[in-house]
Amino acid sequence: MATNYTPPPLPPPFSHTTPPPVLLAQGAEARLYKTTFLTPDTPAALKIRPTKAYRHEILDRRLTRQRVLHEARCLTKLVREGVSVPAVLALDWDPPVPEGQQRSVGAWLLMEWIEGLSVKAILEKWETWMKKSIREHNNDNKFNRTEEEDRVKDLMRRIGRAVGIMHKAGVIHGDLTTSNLILRPFHPAPSDIPDGTGSPSMEGDIVLIDFGLAINSVQDEDRGVDLYVLERAIGSTHPMAETLFSHVLDGYSDSFKGARAALKRLEDVRMRGRKRSMVG
Ligand SMILES: Nc1ncnc2c1ncn2[C@@H]1O[C@H](COP(=O)(O)OP(=O)(O)O)[C@@H](O)[C@H]1O
Ligand SMILES: [Mg+2]
Repeated sequence: MATNYTPPPLPPPFSHTTPPPVLLAQGAEARLYKTTFLTPDTPAALKIRPTKAYRHEILDRRLTRQRVLHEARCLTKLVREGVSVPAVLALDWDPPVPEGQQRSVGAWLLMEWIEGLSVKAILEKWETWMKKSIREHNNDNKFNRTEEEDRVKDLMRRIGRAVGIMHKAGVIHGDLTTSNLILRPFHPAPSDIPDGTGSPSMEGDIVLIDFGLAINSVQDEDRGVDLYVLERAIGSTHPMAETLFSHVLDGYSDSFKGARAALKRLEDVRMRGRKRSMVG
């Protein structure tokens, strides 16, 4: 990306807010901004799905509109079912074309801001800290390796439980990576999370985000695939965390009645995954 990159204009009313929304993430399908809602001290997350210039205009408008509506409906349903996800604050599936522009900016969704670090960031900090501590103290009384591992195992169980509660509500996430799981601290205090030198806090609630690829389903197969995606994501990005996936499944298994059947199906999904990687 060029250093002088300027993102496309924001849709109203966000083009006029002071301070302006801050661009946090630019994905293939969406831009994520941090802004506020109603009062300046209520943070909110603004997800904009831009139009795609290479698509036919009418088809494009329909697709972006459908995606935003679908994500909002999923979130609303999950909030109603008591699953930890961001609440929907507002949306516009067909914003007006900005002055001087040819096409609409796309559709947008404004959500509750979730405070905290992603599970990805927490696992990275934890691994760095573990390696350093093992090197420096191995098992003196300043560092208790078993205790540290228990903390992360407990985090894994809470992740499994959160996924189970979502599945119970009839939703398949479709993109369960550690970036799409946020640990929202119970007591948001900056001192809670030491700056890379200490062990990260693992206190808090697991909140699921990013329902852009979610589907409504109660099929064991879909649930199994959802878990498999998470297994691969944890295993590939966090070498020390791979063995910890069994604790995710532990948490999942007693989170709802259908969990056992979904776990059984996960084994078939794994077998197919292995066969595919042997052939391919
Ligand atoms: N409600 C939210 N609260 C806080 N941060 C969020 C929220 N939604 C998204 N983010 C941040 O923005 C990033 C991108 O948003 P996401 O919905 O995952 O879009 P994408 O489809 O591009 O991955 C997330 O990884 C997270 O860091
Ligand atoms: Mg994401």
